[in-house]
Amino acid sequence: MAEWYKDMSFYHIWPRSFKDGNGDGIGDLAGVMEKLDYIQRLGVDGIWFSPLYPSPNADYGYDVADYRDIHPDFGTLAEFRALLDEVHRRGMKLLMDLVVNHTSDEHPWFQASRRRQEPYTDYYIWRPAGKRGKHPNNWDSLFEGKAWEWDELRGEYYLHLFAKKQPDLNMDNPAVRKEVENILRFWLEKGVDGFREDVITFISKTDGLPDDRLMPAVRGLRFYSNGPRLHAYLKQFRAVTDGYDCMTVGEAPRMTPRKALAFIGGKNRVLDLFIHFEHMAADCFMVDYLRRPFSLRKLKGPLSRWQRGLRDKGWNVLYLENHDHPRVISRYGSEKYRVESGKMLAAMYLLLQGTAFVYQGQELGMTNLHLPAIEDYPDVSARHNYLRLKAFLGEKRAARWIKEGTRVNARTPVQWTEGENAGFCPPGVEPWLTVNPNYREINAADQENDPDSLLNFYRSLLRFRKEPVIRYGSFIEYCPEDRQLYVYDRAYRGERILVVCSFTEQQVTFREPYSLKDAEKLFGNYPGLTGALRPYEVRVYRLRKEQ
Ligand code: NOJ
Repeated sequence: MAEWYKDMSFYHIWPRSFKDGNGDGIGDLAGVMEKLDYIQRLGVDGIWFSPLYPSPNADYGYDVADYRDIHPDFGTLAEFRALLDEVHRRGMKLLMDLVVNHTSDEHPWFQASRRRQEPYTDYYIWRPAGKRGKHPNNWDSLFEGKAWEWDELRGEYYLHLFAKKQPDLNMDNPAVRKEVENILRFWLEKGVDGFREDVITFISKTDGLPDDRLMPAVRGLRFYSNGPRLHAYLKQFRAVTDGYDCMTVGEAPRMTPRKALAFIGGKNRVLDLFIHFEHMAADCFMVDYLRRPFSLRKLKGPLSRWQRGLRDKGWNVLYLENHDHPRVISRYGSEKYRVESGKMLAAMYLLLQGTAFVYQGQELGMTNLHLPAIEDYPDVSARHNYLRLKAFLGEKRAARWIKEGTRVNARTPVQWTEGENAGFCPPGVEPWLTVNPNYREINAADQENDPDSLLNFYRSLLRFRKEPVIRYGSFIEYCPEDRQLYVYDRAYRGERILVVCSFTEQQVTFREPYSLKDAEKLFGNYPGLTGALRPYEVRVYRLRKEQ
């Protein structure tokens, strides 16, 4: 079983918005190739690619139409192979996204299944209409209305937990699981180093697909999260990946550390890591667009619980951003104190124990978009959930919640320079999605040679993550009840680092948990190390005991 990921950090690329290398306004593999130096210099050890496969883009790649090819917008399989070689030549790893809870409705399997062509008839979850044409059950989809869509051709409903164009695969069908095995083998034979597995904890649905009387708005969720045969199916897939030097990371909504250990702990291990969501709800209810004021305790509570819960039994994933959430400075930090809060947040999570992920643009302190109209935010879930919210919140509040909470905020093109289109695509070419207008103030070129930039702060932290104290150090949290400060330390073999993070623009006094007389400053976002903490200040002290 692979263990190499334990002291690694990964850069997460959402390819459409990373870098356009061929001048069509869409990010692509050529763009990634151009930026490999940048990625490597950041100090990460590998890349996770959001889906690169051919897709009609109802959900930008998470609706896969062919599992064995590269989307023509991004390049070709040959280009992918060349990129993989180059990544390996640099000693880095490459993770693919495995999206097998559902396919695109344009996938040939679905087209054949609609027509009841064998062997595809039962590849999806089909049910006849209930009495008076009713849906087979009352589940909601997460992206687009009810979870059932009528198919004229087949004369039945199909289940879609996400958009209508994302029919759920029937994982209970052994032939479908064989397909998954073959997809894994296909990419492993090409040499990829692992998979991030999309909503993998949804693949086993409760028998009988019962109606849900609890959980309005997300009816059904409890009947398909961590379902009855999930472990068995993952074990089957693990038997394939174990034949290679491969790591697996499962995306896992509604996961807790205790439940996680049944999948990623000890002898039960069928995945290496989980991307859980518990710390991503510190300013929302369950999903990002159901807004509530930021609560530090709702952030540090889960972070610390996962640190303690997996200690010596499993391994954590550390992240604050990805393509599904708004920019973290705009939600847990402050746009006014953008650089300060960006640095504080970076140190806050990168000094914890686990395998770290940094999402494109996070290292530059990119922030949310602030555009006038909902229509400016192209996303199936934003569109649909706006209509749902509008019905009971009114237009204004619904629009505000969606704009603040939508993942489109994280999907704007990466801001490389202060030039036209932020250097994402050539001048005169229209980028597929609007560039955040703040690119003149926030871009990589500006930060490249500024020793105090957020980019260089990330570089130092990522380099520091190689120290044994990060991989092995104990974890103790101080003042867990405090509403403004997150304070913890990590200790290993005579070395102790104390991390003090302020989450407020007010000055706050901080009571040292022990004497810091002989401490040195390891990281900080203001000069000096003493006195009250300044807005969003982070102080990282190092103490060494004489051995
Ligand atoms: C989780 C992915 O990260 C998200 O982008 C996608 O829309 C859903 N799963 C459905 O695949």
